[in-house]
Amino acid sequence: MRLRLIALALTTATAIFAAPVPSTVTFNKDVLPILQKRCQECHRPGEVAPMALMNYNDARPWAKSIRQAVLTKKMPPWFADPSVGHFANDRSLSKNEIDTLVAWVEGGTKEGNAKDAPPSREFVDGWNMGKPDMVIEMPNAFPVPASGQVEYQYVILPTHLKEDVWVLASEVRPGDRSVMHHVITSIREPGSKWMADQQPGVVFLPPRGAANRGGVLDGGLGGYVPGQVIRPVSEGPHRATLLKAGSDIVFQLHYTPNGKATTDKTKIGLIFAKEPPKERLMGGNSALLRLAIPAGESNYQLKAVSTVPYDSELVSMMPHAHLRGKAFEYKITRPDGSSEVVLRVPKYDFNWQLTYWLDAPIHMPKGTKVELTAWYDNSANNPYNPDPTKEVHWGEQTTEEMMMGYFNYVVDPGQEIKDGRTRATGGGQ
Ligand code: HEC
Repeated sequence: MRLRLIALALTTATAIFAAPVPSTVTFNKDVLPILQKRCQECHRPGEVAPMALMNYNDARPWAKSIRQAVLTKKMPPWFADPSVGHFANDRSLSKNEIDTLVAWVEGGTKEGNAKDAPPSREFVDGWNMGKPDMVIEMPNAFPVPASGQVEYQYVILPTHLKEDVWVLASEVRPGDRSVMHHVITSIREPGSKWMADQQPGVVFLPPRGAANRGGVLDGGLGGYVPGQVIRPVSEGPHRATLLKAGSDIVFQLHYTPNGKATTDKTKIGLIFAKEPPKERLMGGNSALLRLAIPAGESNYQLKAVSTVPYDSELVSMMPHAHLRGKAFEYKITRPDGSSEVVLRVPKYDFNWQLTYWLDAPIHMPKGTKVELTAWYDNSANNPYNPDPTKEVHWGEQTTEEMMMGYFNYVVDPGQEIKDGRTRATGGGQ
């Protein structure tokens, strides 16, 4: 109650003083700490954003645009409904942070005293997760044409690992980000027959359907998607993915030509756990592979469900659809009948493929169902819709649709895993 009163008082105070902006807000003292914490992971040289926001000279020309972007909540990109759950990687700004940025712009973008500036945030050049213990790169560059559609390409990369390792963090870095739509990784354990006739290191196009047969494409070591931000290992809990000796890493590469022919050599960096982890990280997916979204429908609903095969804790979720994707909801139902909504994304944006990492893991006893509901807008009102007159089916290109509810859960590292699968896969209804 007391807190609420104070909050109320603060809101009123802001409202009263909103007109003459407090002139005390300066870049060095007030703005830079926010940029460091909320923006620089993307807004620094070599990263995903078009301009750096590292210092006053970087930020000053963008002041008006920053004000606009934070007031409209366009930046930082974050789409979870704040009334459902708490997320460790929630990068949305607090009201106070928004007010500060706006006050800086409206108060004349003062630089302030250099002595007030916090030390610059340290980044490892070229990697967001920290310094990798091992880097595996495609040995040959893939030529990406200037135009046209490129089918999903695959490449198998041997790890040459002599013993089992626990991977604490991994990061996929495209060679040419401008043409990379996504990369999905899979772990191919020794002895696997999956695409066994393909030559390692050589990019290939598998026969239709072969790549995903049996749900082998498991995203085992993460991937690269627009807007994905890798958290430094030091920030995360001690959980890891098992990578067995002699395993290969398989990339699925989706190139989207952008008018200029180029080449790409994608690489993956791995950080190994120095001691056995407390939790083993696993992947699941509540997905629908057969779907038909009627032409013109503005709110078409689909559901998919999967069952978790072990006692576990839910740790993250990543919904995925294409240009007609509109909204998502994840709900878990435990064998005792208790259920809860664990993520709601009321306005899905295809340009940002975000993973939502839960602040506190959610318990899922063996047999818990993870239900995904997705809504699609196939009407002319959807500005991204390439063709509202068309019934849409499942397909790899963005003009076709998908309905994927990826999630991660953790199990005891001693848990016996049946048939080497890390996936809980489910069908739809
Ligand atoms: C996850 C990565 C990411 C984070 C975090 C992020 N940005 Fe961005 N930002 C981008 C990308 C990519 C673009 C260009 C594409 C776009 O406009 O959507 C962009 C564009 C912008 C633009 C130009 C907007 C326009 O309308 O042209 C501004 C201003 C901006 N960001 C400010 C910020 C500020 C301020 C923060 C932190 C409070 C922030 N961004 C955090 C990735 C990010």
